[in-house]
Amino acid sequence: MDYPRGLAGVVVDQTKISSTAGAHLTYAGYPIEELSEASFEEVVFLLWNTRLPNEQELYDFRADLVSKMVLPAETIRLLLYIAKEPQHPMSILRTTTSLLGTTNDVEHDEPPKILAKMLTAIAAILRIRDNEPLIAVDPNLNVVENFLYMIKGKRPDRKLTKMFSSVMILQADHEFNASTFTARVVASTFADYYSCLTAAVSALKGPLHGGANERVFEMIEEIEKEQIDPKDFVELQLKKKRKIMGFGHRIYKNGDPRAFILEEIAAELAPETGNKQYLKIQQALAKYMLERFGLHPNVDYYTALIYHCLGLDKSVFTMIFATCRTAGWLAHIMEQRRENCLIRPNSEYVGPTNQHYLRKESEEDYK
Ligand SMILES: CC(C)(COP(=O)(O)OP(=O)(O)OC[C@H]1O[C@@H](n2cnc3c(N)ncnc32)[C@H](O)[C@@H]1OP(=O)(O)O)[C@@H](O)C(=O)NCCC(=O)NCCS
Repeated sequence: MDYPRGLAGVVVDQTKISSTAGAHLTYAGYPIEELSEASFEEVVFLLWNTRLPNEQELYDFRADLVSKMVLPAETIRLLLYIAKEPQHPMSILRTTTSLLGTTNDVEHDEPPKILAKMLTAIAAILRIRDNEPLIAVDPNLNVVENFLYMIKGKRPDRKLTKMFSSVMILQADHEFNASTFTARVVASTFADYYSCLTAAVSALKGPLHGGANERVFEMIEEIEKEQIDPKDFVELQLKKKRKIMGFGHRIYKNGDPRAFILEEIAAELAPETGNKQYLKIQQALAKYMLERFGLHPNVDYYTALIYHCLGLDKSVFTMIFATCRTAGWLAHIMEQRRENCLIRPNSEYVGPTNQHYLRKESEEDYK
């Protein structure tokens, strides 16, 4: 075997959207640390056009997105039924994403409408599961304010909006991560946007990718509830040959640049929302993981606490990640379509050879 498993380190194509070169995350050349201060719409525009918008373009882009944060009546009717089911919210979202692509008017849907519908659909899933009435978009609010308004039923203040915008921006894109690559594979066959997004949501669901944030919080809750020393918890998990969720990364071996900013946000939010105890556990666990294994927290580690501080149930954490990542998925689907080459790698066959199928002679031979 002289090839890297899991495509580790393999450059499969070029992109102008984002880069992790030198373990620095940039979107179209701009460092993520600076972009986390921008507005969400500015960053979506950047990912889709590889340049920042001017003032008028930003105004128009924002107004266009907000005006499209509406779901067709038939989607709502079906969502009211599907979202109540006991399945995991990511399974509901997977079906919903596919559903968004099957209403009558979708043939000509373009990325602004698709992104707007995805955000509204995610907010609707949350509300329906909480037995709360759906909230209509407010044209006077921006995209992030509207999303928070539609999930909480209350217009968010400036501080919350700014914090959540940063969280969304930090997770908006990450070059050829598993779900984005999945979306690009599907896009490379020239399948429609919704098919690409449904596949991306499916890949994000797994615990080695977006599904890690839910497991992080499960772990922190267990440590808190059982009053276990984080060090003992780690050792016990490793004895059971289990990974510690929220640690390690395929690319960032010396720390995930997003996690540094997310830790600051979590550190601000946790005391304000009565969740200091979880932050303390997370920081102690992170210290031990670094000392003992040289492993750093990744993007999912502190977002788990941030989402908890926002009053969200852990079962919907990965769906919130999908809210943030949809903009990036769409950027990559568009780029793949523009510069397309079918993604179809080879494999090394290691199964049996020289097998022969002998045709059965009579009915009796089948018994
Ligand atoms: C993200 C992840 C899949 C990266 O995987 P990868 O690049 O294939 O790296 P590996 O899983 O091969 O890890 C390399 C080594 O570090 C160890 N390691 C990596 N992450 C670990 C973790 N979270 N807990 C314990 N050990 C870990 C592996 O066991 C492996 O050790 P070994 O060489 O002795 O076998 C991996 O770190 C992981 O599973 N993390 C937990 C899940 C998670 O948080 N996912 C979200 C990613 S953003």
